[in-house]
Amino acid sequence: MFSIRQANQDEAAWLQASFDSHMGWTKPPGYFAAALERQAQGHLALLLALEESAYLGHCKVVWRSAYPGFRDRGTPEIQDLNVRPDYRRRGIGSALLDAAERRIAERSDFAGIGFGLYADYGAAQRLYIKRGYLPDGRGLHYGSNPAVAGETYRVDDDLVLYLVKMLKP
Ligand SMILES: CC(C)(COP(=O)(O)OP(=O)(O)OC[C@H]1O[C@@H](n2cnc3c(N)ncnc32)[C@H](O)[C@@H]1OP(=O)(O)O)[C@@H](O)C(=O)NCCC(=O)NCCS
Repeated sequence: MFSIRQANQDEAAWLQASFDSHMGWTKPPGYFAAALERQAQGHLALLLALEESAYLGHCKVVWRSAYPGFRDRGTPEIQDLNVRPDYRRRGIGSALLDAAERRIAERSDFAGIGFGLYADYGAAQRLYIKRGYLPDGRGLHYGSNPAVAGETYRVDDDLVLYLVKMLKP
């Protein structure tokens, strides 16, 4: 049985160690400290999935997105959704998104999210579409910049399709 809550300011070291030892890859040193600092400044909410005191996953709600398609419309962006590989397909990613969307609905009628286009993002692609996220209609982006027809781009984490979901009917 897992629970979802916002991270506390003093949890940076524990989160960094938990992520790095369980996710199968590591975040740059100071990643969670920086996220918690930004949370303290009111720029984002860092949401955690826990089983008792064990870290299972997290996501961030970023209130002012760096992506102009969201920022210009005041659409908050859900970022960095990650669930431990040994806890996937148990509804934890969905529960983190539920919690993120509830937080966003207090401020906005729309939630924004993006996914990469290669196979590592396959689960996220299916999950987001299944939950009602639709492409935002601005086409593929490389980082925050529109991908231009006829140009060549590297398929990596920056090649992103952004999607939106209407949270209120
Ligand atoms: C994407 C991710 C967060 C999903 O977490 P999760 O806890 O496994 O998700 P859920 O159990 O809530 O899955 C909900 C639904 O998503 C879809 N889904 C999830 N994983 C899937 C997979 N590997 N293949 C196909 N569909 C998948 C299914 O429809 C699933 O429902 P079902 O289990 O009833 O069939 C997780 O796979 C992950 O951390 N991936 C790596 C990081 C990543 O890509 N993050 C997203 C960045 S954009």
